[in-house]
Amino acid sequence: MGDQSNESSAACFEESLVKMPTIKFTKLFINGEFVDSVSGNTFETIAPSTGEVITRVAEGDKEDVDLAVKAARAAFDHGPWPRFSGAKRGAIMLKFADLVDEHNEELAKLDTVDAGKLFSFGKAFDIPQVAQSLRYYAGAADKIHGDVLKMSREFQGYTLLEPIGVVGHIIPWNFPSILMFAKVAPSLAAGCTMVVKPAEQSPLSALYYAHLAKLAGVPDGVLNVINGYGETAGAAITHHMDIDKVSFTGSTEIGREVMRAAANSNLKAVSLELGGKSPMLIFDDADVDMAVELALFGILFNKGEACVASSRVFVQEGIYDELVKKLKEKAKDWTVGDPFDPNVRQGPQVDKTQFEKILSYIEHGKRQGATLLTGGKPVGNKGYYIEPTVFTDVKDDMLIATDEIFGPVMSLMKFKTVEEGIERANKTKYGLAAGIITKNIDVANTVSRSIRAGTIWINCYMAIENDVPFGGYKMSGFGRDFGLQGLHKYLHTKSVITPIYNSPWL
Ligand code: NAI
Ligand code: MG
Repeated sequence: MGDQSNESSAACFEESLVKMPTIKFTKLFINGEFVDSVSGNTFETIAPSTGEVITRVAEGDKEDVDLAVKAARAAFDHGPWPRFSGAKRGAIMLKFADLVDEHNEELAKLDTVDAGKLFSFGKAFDIPQVAQSLRYYAGAADKIHGDVLKMSREFQGYTLLEPIGVVGHIIPWNFPSILMFAKVAPSLAAGCTMVVKPAEQSPLSALYYAHLAKLAGVPDGVLNVINGYGETAGAAITHHMDIDKVSFTGSTEIGREVMRAAANSNLKAVSLELGGKSPMLIFDDADVDMAVELALFGILFNKGEACVASSRVFVQEGIYDELVKKLKEKAKDWTVGDPFDPNVRQGPQVDKTQFEKILSYIEHGKRQGATLLTGGKPVGNKGYYIEPTVFTDVKDDMLIATDEIFGPVMSLMKFKTVEEGIERANKTKYGLAAGIITKNIDVANTVSRSIRAGTIWINCYMAIENDVPFGGYKMSGFGRDFGLQGLHKYLHTKSVITPIYNSPWL
């Protein structure tokens, strides 16, 4: 396999970041081989902690996507993967999971250097979650079966669940590993073959996973990885006539493009996990210290680059003043800095574009009359770090309260009654998640049933596990990742009918 290292380009970088991992894989992965792009073009991937170039990776475009789809189509139509028993696919996926565990540190380092994610968290959470996704769906691979159908006396029928075919997975940069495997693991279990396009900001771990898939025994052509930009490689996937389904996670704006491309090409199936502006409602009876921790964690985790970030925090008036005071103090303990440092809680934003976008929202917030309780400025003069930022006196229609900022920026708002809290929480085009902090079971039940969002966390936040379906209402998208729904979206249902006696149709 075309292993290659890029030690020369990494060398200059080593001075600024001691823990630079060796970059082994930088090409495209097509039909079980690392290959250059047809054009020979490459692009830089940048470390957000310094703004420096980590390495160059092959830049895939339409021709490369075509080659990858050809390989995936051949592997689907004629290869062993969809024809293996579920148990055999499961066994290979379990081996893949073990390899992910064995390479935990290297993988975590790649996501840290590429996307600015906390190394300690990657080791403890992101990479183990990948292995767990593989194991969860490996366990489901031999339990995929249809129903016996109750028909009239003349007929009997049953359903077969069949893999949907060649799938295109388009992955964002905020959780390069977890979100790749939220899609790859179930589609592998279903017997699909696939083309994965990692985000241009964070391609490195995806290539490493391709290498591990081959080592585990995933047959050539089943899992292909095409690095490249959205408008080129991404669009080539969504417009492709021979891709049966696209599973997308990213912005609502591009979600629309994905649907449009599917409509204008072969009407491929689409599932979309898009943005959010998730509310957290903190009620008067809440434990204020716990509420403060959850509110900060909900917005600052992964530097606010989380689709479920609790960016709108509604606090009931009885505890509002106390909560604001404590939140201001606690926000100071939230250390920003080198994502390899185990004492740091917040690394750099993923790139210059996000960094500037977040800072411009902060300026908007100030201009529109919100009060900066804390933060609001960049940190340091290198890399893309931003202070944990909390606004008070936020009105529901200010830009900082309506738009997905995707950064460490919280809008704090006061409310009086349960009804008012519900109404304002729902006043958004998004519907991905919500948090409810209360000890009152009636309030928790009422509010959880009244919020139009795909996930409700009561007295916790961001608890995401493989068995829990995850996805949006409203403009946060449709279709679910994780859980058995996350598997079934890669399956077709085929109904088979046969006469019991002499066929009345002959
Ligand atoms: P994006 O939606 O442009 O990127 C996500 C993925 O889609 C990347 O792999 C990208 O290359 C691909 N893509 C972009 N344009 C495409 C096209 N025309 N056809 C096919 N694929 C395409 O998100 P971006 O620009 O990186 O971030 C912008 C905002 O989107 C963020 O500030 C955030 O608000 C939101 N976002 C939400 C995410 C989520 O988890 N729901 C993840 C990433 C971004
Ligand atoms: Mg974009």
